[in-house]
Amino acid sequence: MQIDVFTLVPHAFGWLTEQRPLAAVLGTEVDLRLFGYRDTTPLANGQVDDAPYGGGAGMVLRVDAVAAALDAVYGGVPEHRVIGLTPQGRQLDQRVVEELVDEEHLTLLSARFEGFDERILAHLCSDAISIGPYVLSGGELPAMVLVDAIARLQPGALADESPRRETFSAELDRGVEFPQYTRPAEFRGWRVPDVLVSGDHARIEAWRREQSRARSAR
Ligand SMILES: C[S@@+](CC[C@H](N)C(=O)[O-])C[C@H]1O[C@@H](n2cnc3c(N)ncnc32)[C@H](O)[C@@H]1O
Repeated sequence: MQIDVFTLVPHAFGWLTEQRPLAAVLGTEVDLRLFGYRDTTPLANGQVDDAPYGGGAGMVLRVDAVAAALDAVYGGVPEHRVIGLTPQGRQLDQRVVEELVDEEHLTLLSARFEGFDERILAHLCSDAISIGPYVLSGGELPAMVLVDAIARLQPGALADESPRRETFSAELDRGVEFPQYTRPAEFRGWRVPDVLVSGDHARIEAWRREQSRARSAR
């Protein structure tokens, strides 16, 4: 899968690309490319934004700067999905992530400042996605959230079956995961549930299912 991210801050992604699970699938299952709008802008001095028509605070990402970036990489608006990251978009959840995992090629557009000139979302994007009902300063964290959520569902990203059986997965009926414990079995009098140290796998499985159901119903 190819994921292309367009951003004003390409170096912000350095940390993410060194971390598992993305690091484990980069170059094999996922090819991540980072593009800076300033590298291809047709405007002088790397300009990519401008004051809003009608007045108001802040700067708006220009449509010509974003179109030039897409032209430089794809020769126009690509056929595959181009996702504008905006708090006004369709809200991200695990179902949306699973839908995106099936794509061969994805482009993510992030903005900063006051956001996108609306023509970017209307004419250059196929989708608009929000990572939640709150406003961040830029689309870099939302892009990283999306890339990480997609990467961990790729084959080979995680050593075991955990992504198939975790919170919001179809395997757990989109509910939340059962509680997890590790050593020591007792700490300050706080004991791990007896069933988990019983060695009875059928009982453990039934307990986990019940815990997941009960927590999801809260
Ligand atoms: C400060 S925000 C712009 C907010 C915009 N003026 C508004 O009121 O809707 C700057 C950029 O950060 C990104 N961003 C902020 N919050 C986001 C969220 N919840 N989901 C996705 N992207 C977000 C978007 O790329 C957005 O254009």
